[in-house]
Amino acid sequence: MKVNKISLMVAFLFTCALGTAQAQETEKAFIKENMEFATKQCKLMLKTPAQGKEGKGVMPHSMRKDGTASKGSIYLWTAGFFPGTLWYLSDYNNDKALQDSALVYTQKMEPVKTFTDNHDIGFMMYCSYGNANRFAPQKSYNDILIESARSLCTRYSPITGTIKSWNSWRSWNDGTVFKYPVIIDNMMNLELLFFASRVSGDDSYKNVAVSHAEKTMKNQMRKDGSFYHITMYDPETGKFIKGETSQGYSDNSAWSRGQGWAVYGFTVVYRETKDPRFLATAQKAADYYINHPNLPSDKVAWWDFNAFQEGFTPGPRSNAGKITTNYRDASAAALVASALFELSGYTKGKKSQVYFDTAKQILHSLGGPNYRAKEGENANYVLMHSTGAIPQNGEIDVPLVYADYYFVEALYRYNKILNNEPLFSNLK
Ligand code: GLY
Repeated sequence: MKVNKISLMVAFLFTCALGTAQAQETEKAFIKENMEFATKQCKLMLKTPAQGKEGKGVMPHSMRKDGTASKGSIYLWTAGFFPGTLWYLSDYNNDKALQDSALVYTQKMEPVKTFTDNHDIGFMMYCSYGNANRFAPQKSYNDILIESARSLCTRYSPITGTIKSWNSWRSWNDGTVFKYPVIIDNMMNLELLFFASRVSGDDSYKNVAVSHAEKTMKNQMRKDGSFYHITMYDPETGKFIKGETSQGYSDNSAWSRGQGWAVYGFTVVYRETKDPRFLATAQKAADYYINHPNLPSDKVAWWDFNAFQEGFTPGPRSNAGKITTNYRDASAAALVASALFELSGYTKGKKSQVYFDTAKQILHSLGGPNYRAKEGENANYVLMHSTGAIPQNGEIDVPLVYADYYFVEALYRYNKILNNEPLFSNLK
């Protein structure tokens, strides 16, 4: 009798293990199929010509009204995403030709290392050269990235303790111009600074990043875990003035991609500092996204969690007050998925599983027919239905290169987790 019970238990455990192994194989096949599709789309994109005067439009950005890809200059904030996507795909596929293309597109970015007109250099250089350094390192990349970090730090003020995002911001409300705006997106530029400190041995970059993250945590996060898109500082006194929005529905609303930048950005800062305050902030931001009553069941957020809700009113100068249709933002979902895979690894217990399962569910939604394009369509981007800037009346329900980047990155991370490999084994 006893023996029978034991044999039953062994058989049960064996069946469970087999089920898990089969489920893992199914998931790996899902990842492979999506990575193969992304590779095909990127290879088609590589065949499309540059645009504009003297071929200045070289970096895929979004889609034009005629259905062809719109391309931007290397100085556009999105310029690093296409080379970055090529790096992930070339590494996943072990594809030398794709790696050569990743290198060609990365090298186009070198002049950006001295760019100081806004804060976006972290996005631009870390997605391109940062990934190049990770997947095919060369010593010269360290110098390029350190110079980029130095350029970003020219926008730091010890008075405000933050990096200035834009040179000014004109309010959607009454046109007031603020001279020291900081946007939540800026959290994404900090990874470059931590890298620069690590390879140069100079802590000043890291200190700027930590100060910026602390001020953002204090002034930009609301009590419920949502974030102002923009915070205004007084450059003379360093005082926080107020929060507003540029790309969200209203000043008090939660713009979905901004929420995503917060989840991702604070997760990175925790990775680099191991300071539990940053982990708690990343988790609070993630919980806001996951538990929001307006999050659709496929976990792909509306462009703003509060669009059209009572108590949320766009400023009179914003186009957000003119729209009558609600839109999803696949880019927000993709970047949240990528961040949640990392965050689940820093989180204990049930919450860790919730983060992991949500990330997985987002990928399955995005990889399904509602969001994933058909081969050769969608101007050769992978994902449809992203939303760039409704208040500016631009990029509404279109493909966006960064949605593809974070989708591919999330798939890459998911694959690493399933293979029991560290997410950042090849990161300096
Ligand atoms: N960083 C600009 C955006 O998220 O649209």
